[in-house]
Amino acid sequence: MTTAKQMLERALSIRRPPHASEDAGAAEDEGGDETGDESKTRKHISMAVRITNYLTRTGYLWPIIVIGLIIVIISSVIISSRDLVCISASSSDHISRLRFFGFDELESDFGSLGVPWCRSKRGKNVEWTSKDLLRGIEEFVPIYETRPIQNNMYGMGFDHSFGLWFMARWLKPDLMIESGAFKGHSTWVLRQAMPDTPIVSLSPRHPEKYLKKGPAYVDGNCTYFAGKDFVDFGSMDWGRVMRKHGIKDRSRVLIFFDDHQNELKRLKQALKAGFQHLVFEDNYDTGTGDHYSFRQICDQFYIRGGGHSCFKDSDEARIRYRRRKFWEKAVDIEELCGPGEAWWGVRGHMRDDFNHSNKAITYAEHFQNSRFVESVLDVYWELPPVAGPSLTHQTRYDPARAPTPIVEDGRYGLFRRLGLSRLDNSVFNGYTQMVYLQVSKP
Ligand SMILES: C[S@@+](CC[C@H](N)C(=O)[O-])C[C@H]1O[C@@H](n2cnc3c(N)ncnc32)[C@H](O)[C@@H]1O
Repeated sequence: MTTAKQMLERALSIRRPPHASEDAGAAEDEGGDETGDESKTRKHISMAVRITNYLTRTGYLWPIIVIGLIIVIISSVIISSRDLVCISASSSDHISRLRFFGFDELESDFGSLGVPWCRSKRGKNVEWTSKDLLRGIEEFVPIYETRPIQNNMYGMGFDHSFGLWFMARWLKPDLMIESGAFKGHSTWVLRQAMPDTPIVSLSPRHPEKYLKKGPAYVDGNCTYFAGKDFVDFGSMDWGRVMRKHGIKDRSRVLIFFDDHQNELKRLKQALKAGFQHLVFEDNYDTGTGDHYSFRQICDQFYIRGGGHSCFKDSDEARIRYRRRKFWEKAVDIEELCGPGEAWWGVRGHMRDDFNHSNKAITYAEHFQNSRFVESVLDVYWELPPVAGPSLTHQTRYDPARAPTPIVEDGRYGLFRRLGLSRLDNSVFNGYTQMVYLQVSKP
């Protein structure tokens, strides 16, 4: 019968490379090519053989192997569970975030959370490609660097400024209408895209008011319905405005909404007025934001990544709990779900007007809203983030709930070549899934 000692020796001789025994002597003869490490290894091996011999004789070998195996299993379980639970300390935070950027976790979580998408009537898509977007970024960075409002807190950052500029330039409208101007940054972006096209801007407070306190932008070729002349988009006499600007074809008009109103309400008003090209700045994800958005409306069980579970022991609950620690805008199950397990909109509410008004809706109503949106949609396109979080260092939006960035994680060379590394990290922190809709009557 083969003894344990013989088995060990056979195993060692199989593993040992040929030159470790026969060639070693030759190497010594040829001038001592053998390293100190190799001789140490040999000493360790003979020691191991002697210890094994002793343990076999005394009958302790197998109990020790079994105990060793148990220790290895228990410590690996402890290490992996620590990774799931203890992620708040700053150094482990950093390491874990890097693991997110290591793609594997990003991809696997992406599958569970996913990115809901509004379906269009005939599955039509936008004409522009990712190459067009990359070329656009390169052209836009130096323009963005000359912006009059360098710190546009509460307004658009780089991602959405680029998206608006790119789409306005691509669509070449005859008239641009914006609802929600604040200090005028988005008016300036529209002007950079289309230097000679008239703008109509609707905002309760005129951007010129901000000039007294700091930088703001007031455009010379813009008709302002602001201050005492303010008219809400839904109450405007669009026939009169179109006549004044000589617009006969309303499909040649681009509307940009950044007014934090219920997007379903705005869609119905735009359809009624006969507009077809709509851009919404804040397309908030389910459970977040101050108004009902398309992303929320299309978050439905029949869409990949859509529909949610409020079950505390679900995979989704676990993934959300973990991601909440990394991304400020990520929500866990507690935040996602309201009474009666209502997860749609924001905890079952359809918010409006900066959340100054909100209304609880049933799941059936929420479902009907998505069917309505789908019935009028020709194109639905969410602007991807310009670059992955490992490049921009943004910490707000959860990449598992956003489309693949235009410059993907790991492509630092491209990020730099496009001029993006020159921008301050803070300008990448405002991404909220800006969306372009092309609509027509059902
Ligand atoms: C987030 S800010 C707009 C930021 C701006 N687009 C930018 O990029 O800097 C929202 C603006 O919407 C305006 N607003 C509020 N209610 C509005 C309404 N009913 N119609 C149009 N604008 C409205 C606010 O006064 C505020 O200026």
